[in-house]
Amino acid sequence: MNLRRTLIVGNWKLHGTLAGNQTLLLQLRANLRGLDAVDFAVCVPYVYLFQAQQLLSGSNLLWGSQNVSQYDVGAYTSCISAAMIAEFGCQFVILAHSERRMLRLESHEVTAQRFLRALEGGLTPIYCVGEAQAERDAGLAEEVVKRQVLNMLHSLDDDAFARAKQLNMVVAYEPVWAIGTGQHASPQEAQAMHAFIRELIAARDPLFAKRIRIIYGGSITADNAQEMLSMPDIDGALVGRSALVAETFTQICRIANDLSLKSHQP
Ligand code: 13P
Repeated sequence: MNLRRTLIVGNWKLHGTLAGNQTLLLQLRANLRGLDAVDFAVCVPYVYLFQAQQLLSGSNLLWGSQNVSQYDVGAYTSCISAAMIAEFGCQFVILAHSERRMLRLESHEVTAQRFLRALEGGLTPIYCVGEAQAERDAGLAEEVVKRQVLNMLHSLDDDAFARAKQLNMVVAYEPVWAIGTGQHASPQEAQAMHAFIRELIAARDPLFAKRIRIIYGGSITADNAQEMLSMPDIDGALVGRSALVAETFTQICRIANDLSLKSHQP
C-alpha cells in the first residue's frame, strides 16, 4: 500500500486571462468534485491568486504561486513575499523551476533563501530539479540532480528541515529536455531518477524519504499519465501545457484518482 497520496499540480506559467481563468477554474472545480483519492492544485500567476481564492475556496482544488521573493518586506520593487501569497489562501509554491533558473539566472543561494521564506510563510515548497539534454548526453544526469537535491538539503538546518517535513515539501523531477517539447522521459528513466532522489533524501531522514512526494514534470499528457503515474516512485505530476485545458487536466486527474483507488484496494 502506498504511503504517499498522489499530487497533481498544474503550472500555468505565463498564461491566463480573467475571463479564461474563470471558465477553466469553474470547470475544473466541477469536474474534480468527488475525486477524493488524490490532491490537486493549480499554480497560477501572482495576479490571479485572488481570483483562484475566490473561485476555488471550499473545493478540493488547491492553489499556489509559481515563485516567492527571498525578501519579507522593504524597498524591493516587483517582489512578492510569502506572507502576501499566504494571504490569498495558497498552499503551494513552486521553487527553482528551470525556466526561472535559465531566464533570470536564479542562483542556488537565492533559491535557498526563497525556500526558507516559503516555509516561514507556511507554504509547501515544490522544489524543482532536473538535468539539461547536454548533461544527460554527457552521462551527468544523476550528478546534476544530486547536486540540486543536496544543495536544497544542506541549506535547511534542523529546524527548517522539521518545518519542511511538517509542510510536506515536495520535489519535482523535471528534466529540462522534456519541458514543453512533447518528449517526456520514459517511465523507466523517470522511475530511476525518482528512486535516486528518494535515496538522497533517505540519507538525511529515512522515514521522511518514504513519505515525501516526488512528482514528475515534462510533457505530461492524458496519453502518458497512466504509465508515468504507475511507477512506484512517481507520486504525481507537475503539468504545464496540459493543465491549460480543462478536459485534459481533468483526464489526468481522473487517471491519477483511479490509480490511487486501485492501489488502495486490498
Ligand atoms: P510541460 O508539461 O508543458 O512540458 O511543462 C512542464 C513544466 O515545466 C511544469 O512545471
